[in-house]
Amino acid sequence: MSVQASFDIRDDDRRPPVDDLLGIVQRGLRARPKRLPSWLFYDERGSQLFEDICEQPEYYLTRSEIALMDTHAGDIADVLGPDVRLVEYGSGNAIKTRMLLEHLHAPVSYVPVEISAEPLRNSTQALNERFPGVPVQALHADFTRPLRLPIPPRAPRRTVIYFPGSTIGNFEARDAADLLRKMRGEMGDNGGILIGADLKKDTATIEAAYNDKAGVTSEFTLNMLVRLNREIGSDFDLSSFRHRSHYNVMAGRIETFIVSTRDQKVRVGKQQVGFTAEEAMQVEYSCKYSPEDFAALAGKAGLAVAHEWTDPQGMFAVYYLVRAGARGA
Ligand code: AVI
Repeated sequence: MSVQASFDIRDDDRRPPVDDLLGIVQRGLRARPKRLPSWLFYDERGSQLFEDICEQPEYYLTRSEIALMDTHAGDIADVLGPDVRLVEYGSGNAIKTRMLLEHLHAPVSYVPVEISAEPLRNSTQALNERFPGVPVQALHADFTRPLRLPIPPRAPRRTVIYFPGSTIGNFEARDAADLLRKMRGEMGDNGGILIGADLKKDTATIEAAYNDKAGVTSEFTLNMLVRLNREIGSDFDLSSFRHRSHYNVMAGRIETFIVSTRDQKVRVGKQQVGFTAEEAMQVEYSCKYSPEDFAALAGKAGLAVAHEWTDPQGMFAVYYLVRAGARGA
């Protein structure tokens, strides 16, 4: 029987109008300490720089998750079972998604959900070429908001939400629990969540990953200011700010700041915003979870860890979460 290659990209028409970027930035700069949201990193250049970070020798996360999939993708596919509808939050690091799809048994459809149109189009096309038998129903939407998933081409046995890459670590604890609770609603009673999370480990290894020698992470961080200068017409002087990432052991997270190297004023819209020398503006958290921490986080969202896998070096974990109290939980 020949199988039809198919893919479509749908706009979630309930997406809010383009957010008021200037307002978001001005609010963040009024906060004490100043803080800007980490999604501002990901313009086109920032997304490219993040890909470059993943290639840095110190950034063990991506390599470890790929090694994990290399070792366990077959087992993971067996746990998920046949006839799965796979919904991926983010348009997919093609390598990990490919490794999973290669092992899944008769998937019903693959639904990448991504807010940036261009990466969504590219990954959708690449996945469709590689797996012509898997219907791709791409959704152009913000996965942090409630989603209206496309009707699947046939009835799935279960919906599995795939959230690789430790992006859950970029949400503060309460927001992470809210996001998991939202996923729990979308996956339905019989569904599950396959999610990657970086493990706690020694401070030196973690800090090196966010302070690579080649300076790519530093460029990634400061690119946020380049973006703001371009998009809201601010006049951040790039040579007067630097990147700082340190591991807060008590909180179990990398905290990244943009630090002003001198007293200065920056024009942001009609306002002049003052920075003192060494003032640090918080731009990202990357939370690290022990398996116990992660089980507790899942519990807050009404979920339980049904399976967990780590890479051979024990650096990174992938969990399969189901509704707490469900069979197999
Ligand atoms: C996307 N996210 C999982 C990365 C992380 O490790 O928190 C983003 C990143 N920031 C600096 N380096 C990588």
